[in-house]
Amino acid sequence: MSLRVDPEWWKELFDEIYLTTDARSVCDDDVTRREIDILLELIPLSPEQEILDLCGGHGRHSVELGRRGYKRCTVFDFSRFLIDRGRKEADRLGREITFLQGDARKTGLPPERFDRVLVLGNSLGYIPSPDGDRDILAEAMRLLKSGGRLFLDIVNGATLRSRFHPFAWHEVGEDVVVCRNRSLEGDIVITREMVLSKKSGLMKDSRYSLRIYEPDSMRLLLSGLGYDGIDVIDDFSPFQEKGDFGFMNFRMIVTAAKP
Ligand SMILES: C[S@@+](CC[C@H](N)C(=O)[O-])C[C@H]1O[C@@H](n2cnc3c(N)ncnc32)[C@H](O)[C@@H]1O
Repeated sequence: MSLRVDPEWWKELFDEIYLTTDARSVCDDDVTRREIDILLELIPLSPEQEILDLCGGHGRHSVELGRRGYKRCTVFDFSRFLIDRGRKEADRLGREITFLQGDARKTGLPPERFDRVLVLGNSLGYIPSPDGDRDILAEAMRLLKSGGRLFLDIVNGATLRSRFHPFAWHEVGEDVVVCRNRSLEGDIVITREMVLSKKSGLMKDSRYSLRIYEPDSMRLLLSGLGYDGIDVIDDFSPFQEKGDFGFMNFRMIVTAAKP
């Protein structure tokens, strides 16, 4: 299978249906808590530190950080739908989180503003050009204070390659079935995802791509951008059950510092 993918697919996909297809990963409070547990274990925070939740979606990590007393969080994401959803939820919970919409390659935020930049829940690899992730990570470097830390939680390409499987499906609730057909072409995974309602038929038929990184290729990218103290934990999953989580169960955690 070789599918054509619109290079700007990531500008459209992250909508209400994404919150259904990926609910097991991004709408489960226990999963989010486990992700924040490992973050705090690896790069401790103090409550006055400024945190940027870059490509932060609907802000679930910032909401959890707020619950634990880390109140200076900014969520930045391209999806207006997710930003609006997150802002409403934060208001409902009484959390003071700043939500901003834009492209992570060029945020327009002032330099050296943050102690931590977090890119969580596999949010790199969407822009097909190799420059896309480089530009996001260079922007993170610009936004970090000297001595500030970057924390990435992304799919581990080495694990993905060794356990790659082209077909997957799962049900969401009583009605929805998510079917995925995937191919691995070099460093790119291309997926066709069909979302079906048992009652009403096809809800969405989309295609998307993901550039994968192995621990060494991510180290190389980060060191080329001037990060130091790069550490990789090459085996992380926040899930307790087995299953196909759209590769979200094959992850690595990368931490690095701005000199
Ligand atoms: C899989 S979601 C994860 C969201 C969030 N980090 C989480 O774990 O719930 C990936 C997110 O990255 C965002 N994203 C991808 N590329 C982006 C870019 N260039 N600029 C801003 N946001 C981007 C998408 O809009 C989407 O919300």
